[in-house]
Amino acid sequence: MNEIQDLQLRIDEAFSGIRFPSSPADLYDPISYTLGLGGKRLRPLLVLASCQMFGGEIDDAIHPAIGIELFHNFTLLHDDIMDAAPLRRGKETVYKKWNSNVAILAGDTMFALANKYMLRTRHQAVSPVVELFNQTAIEVCEGQQYDMDYEHRQDVTIADYMEMIRLKTAVLLAASLKTGAIIAGAGTADCNYIYDFGINIGLAFQLKDDLLDVYGVQEKFGKVSGGDIVAGKKTYLYLKALESAGPQSEDFRSLYASHAIGSNEKITKVKEIFDQLHIEQHTRKLIDEYYQKALHELSCISLSGEAMEALREYTAGLMEREN
Ligand code: IPE
Ligand code: IPE
Ligand code: MG
Ligand code: MG
Ligand code: MG
Repeated sequence: MNEIQDLQLRIDEAFSGIRFPSSPADLYDPISYTLGLGGKRLRPLLVLASCQMFGGEIDDAIHPAIGIELFHNFTLLHDDIMDAAPLRRGKETVYKKWNSNVAILAGDTMFALANKYMLRTRHQAVSPVVELFNQTAIEVCEGQQYDMDYEHRQDVTIADYMEMIRLKTAVLLAASLKTGAIIAGAGTADCNYIYDFGINIGLAFQLKDDLLDVYGVQEKFGKVSGGDIVAGKKTYLYLKALESAGPQSEDFRSLYASHAIGSNEKITKVKEIFDQLHIEQHTRKLIDEYYQKALHELSCISLSGEAMEALREYTAGLMEREN
């Protein structure tokens, strides 16, 4: 078993060990349901891998790692309400299976639980870890609000989009890595480099998420294909297509903004335009650019390439993911 698989096992074991009260069932069942579906558990892995890389103790990092994953799952429950998404991790979303009120309250509980887990680390690390966690949570909310605002705005630029995904997605990956580094007692410069590595990985990760939303295989991705197109989300794919569409850009803009046309027809038409404009290739290129930026940040860290190889290999795999 390699280093990463070992850490994944630690995370899975930690989650299997969490027990929730049986009552009220409509509060705790959705939490168990969500956590039981797993997902990639990428953020806790980043916490542990970073901690290990900087020479820290996994026992000091496991609880904050769980805390960050609980927070992530909370954001998903609320995100699925905001995005009217029926499917996640290949199963019905909580607000569909139960209802929105249940999803809101189960999410709130996970956020509070997350806070409790964040406190369970080495004494000197508690304050910076919790400070980073709360600041990150605020930024994720800011990003989510921009994401919703942009659904109705027609003047969104690619720069606006990049800032929106930095907030809604990248800061949490960055904070996961920095949390591991803080717990390990890494120096300030290294903490900042690993954070910036995470930002660039996170931007690439959300670009890939947007790409998979259009070009992924629903059975593997676990979310409904074309959901972003139906909702009129201002993704990179859309903004790049708009920029490249020339004289057709106004027709394309009104097609994308339309809610009058049937979902399947809208997805097919938008995809046709994306294909004509080679949007998939443009997106893959941008993902690689951010991945290369991430590698540059990694190379600034005061550790040997060998010490960082497991993390580098794992994040390289994330760029190729299909789920
Ligand atoms: C989904 O995150 C939300 C995004 C930031 C794109 P993940 O793709 O990490 O979802 P799970 O946890 O593996 O299901
Ligand atoms: C989600 O972005 C970011 C957060 C949950 C904070 P998306 O809305 O693209 O994520 P998915 O595709 O539903 O997982
Ligand atoms: Mg969503
Ligand atoms: Mg969303
Ligand atoms: Mg998405």
